[in-house]
Amino acid sequence: MRTPLVAGNWKMNPPTLDEAVELARSVAAAVEELPIATVVCPPAVWLTAVAEALARTPVAVGAQTMHAAQRGAFTGEVSPLMLRGRAAFCIIGHSERRQYAHETDADVAAKVASAVAHGIRPIAAIGEREEERHAGRTEEVIDRQLRAAISELPRLTRSGIVIAYEPVWAIGTGDAATPADAQAAGALIRRIVTEVDPNAADEIPILYGGSVTPQNAGEFFEERDIDGALVGGASLDAPQFAAIARAAALATS
Ligand code: PGA
Repeated sequence: MRTPLVAGNWKMNPPTLDEAVELARSVAAAVEELPIATVVCPPAVWLTAVAEALARTPVAVGAQTMHAAQRGAFTGEVSPLMLRGRAAFCIIGHSERRQYAHETDADVAAKVASAVAHGIRPIAAIGEREEERHAGRTEEVIDRQLRAAISELPRLTRSGIVIAYEPVWAIGTGDAATPADAQAAGALIRRIVTEVDPNAADEIPILYGGSVTPQNAGEFFEERDIDGALVGGASLDAPQFAAIARAAALATS
């Protein structure tokens, strides 16, 4: 029912324009025939060139963050108007944004609503930190961050929102969550979405993110409430990213 979605978060990589375009082209060549949705999220400065390189391919482009406002005195920021025509998606509230740029739940809410209002599909990232997990607060954190992220949306149905469950301790550590833990989080997310809008529950893709590799990806995609992945490190290597996308395609066939 839901088309699997595999998104690559390039973070602050690669360092040159030529490498960014080359990576985009290699990804497009490697995932071409797959019956799933694929997205790459390059740094803002490479968005235009990557969007051009991927224009006649099925690979969509996403930004890694955006400001909620359309314009103004916000040094260093990128507005949703600037993303239009370049990015169909935008990751919002990634844990690195929450940690290093001090984004709050309220910021995430405003950005998610602004993205949707500008026709950009938000990939809202939520997930507990290690100390929260150890304190048994995983569900509470997911609940709080998810409800906040969707709180300013006029409606969930056809908003285009994607939810990414990314436990912070699993990001970039090689220590992925177990498929069962990812499924438990996915089921909780689906339950909350259903409570907020029963009609939206079936249409919202829920991704798992955190040390996804070609080796472990298939197990996540077999889980009922995991519809895809948000991939960091492995998305910088086109064959690895494509192998993860193939695993997603396989799980639906
Ligand atoms: P990782 O990053 O795949 O390198 O763990 C995931 C992410 O930050 O989205």
